[in-house]
Amino acid sequence: MRSDPRATRVTPSSSIPVRVEAPSGARDQFGDEEVAQLLALRRELHRHPELSWKEYATSDRLAAVAESLGGVVVRVANTGVVARFRGEDPTAPVVALRGDIDALPIQEATGLDYASAVPGVMHACGHDVHATWAIGAAMSLTRRPARGDVLVVLQPAEEIGAGAPAILASGALDGVAAIFGAHVDRRFAVGQVVAEAGPLAASADAFTITLHGRGAHGARPHEAADPIVAAAAVITALQTIVARRLDPAVPAVCTVGSIHAGVASNVIPEQAVLTGTLRAMDAHTRQRLVDEVKRLAAAVADAYGVRADVTVEHGTPPIVNPAPQAAWARTAAANVLGDAAIVPFGITNMGGEDFAFYMERIPGCFLRIGAREAGGESVAAHSPRFHAADGAILVGAAVLAECARVASAALAEQR
Ligand code: NI
Repeated sequence: MRSDPRATRVTPSSSIPVRVEAPSGARDQFGDEEVAQLLALRRELHRHPELSWKEYATSDRLAAVAESLGGVVVRVANTGVVARFRGEDPTAPVVALRGDIDALPIQEATGLDYASAVPGVMHACGHDVHATWAIGAAMSLTRRPARGDVLVVLQPAEEIGAGAPAILASGALDGVAAIFGAHVDRRFAVGQVVAEAGPLAASADAFTITLHGRGAHGARPHEAADPIVAAAAVITALQTIVARRLDPAVPAVCTVGSIHAGVASNVIPEQAVLTGTLRAMDAHTRQRLVDEVKRLAAAVADAYGVRADVTVEHGTPPIVNPAPQAAWARTAAANVLGDAAIVPFGITNMGGEDFAFYMERIPGCFLRIGAREAGGESVAAHSPRFHAADGAILVGAAVLAECARVASAALAEQR
């Protein structure tokens, strides 16, 4: 029998061992029962993943847990949860911690005993751990509060870049003075933390090029305006944007990810459709990519006697951590784990992350939390074999809670 009545409300944990390989600085922040609860919650979320905007059970579960910990819970943005945890001083600036909660349409192949029970859906990006971090941070903050209130944000639909804008639009974060979030990363060992100023994730914009030609018999090409040949030329021309038009010192990506045209081997179709993704680390390069795709598509189409319609769907902006907030995050990580835990990113990450939308409105810092167990491999997120080591749960929870304390105290001093 468990004696702590609060513990029983969080999650049943009797079958979960509390032995977990994590640095003592993080492990010692939590009691055995709390560790067991967090591990069990993570496993439960991992076993029952839900896709973007479909996180109904996940959201209900997390809202109930946050409430059981004493959070004042509001449900926002469909499947979003924002829980307010009281600080020492109700007038002090408010800080937010964000954990994303959605899964991916991937068939899991980890072989874990808590692998997904939902065919074709998997927590392949570690958002099961991110959600658990947010709850773990809340646990820590109820015991040792920040100066001001802390909003724990359980955000849906990160994978489609839609959750963060919806949370912002709900108004739930109005007046928040700083925001912190993090991602698990198996390129780094459990206990290593990246918390640095500068670029951490790329912008991600999607383009569609529709080439309108004139269909004809495959044996009579002179009567056609062939959109397939034009598409081939457009794809080749797009490769020159990064290679020939942009500064080689500035990271950028232009990838054509799909091409659809035609239905039969002897028919020249009316149109061809290309879609692709554009990645950049700064606003100028981001705009250059869009401009060059439009210019080249139009010019090459014209050269081939077809017409190009180009549409661009703007996705997430880049994440560039500002120096003061990154310094708070580093202080927080060092407080929990010691200075040696803080490692340089050393990677140009062209992946997108919708945390960037918060950072357009609220200064903050996005961290990477090492998630590779001793002797483990560096498996990329979105792989069917991706999983984060248990130890990362305690590290992320402890570091994010400390980020809130450090930022909250610094902001209160600045008033
Ligand atoms: Ni992710």
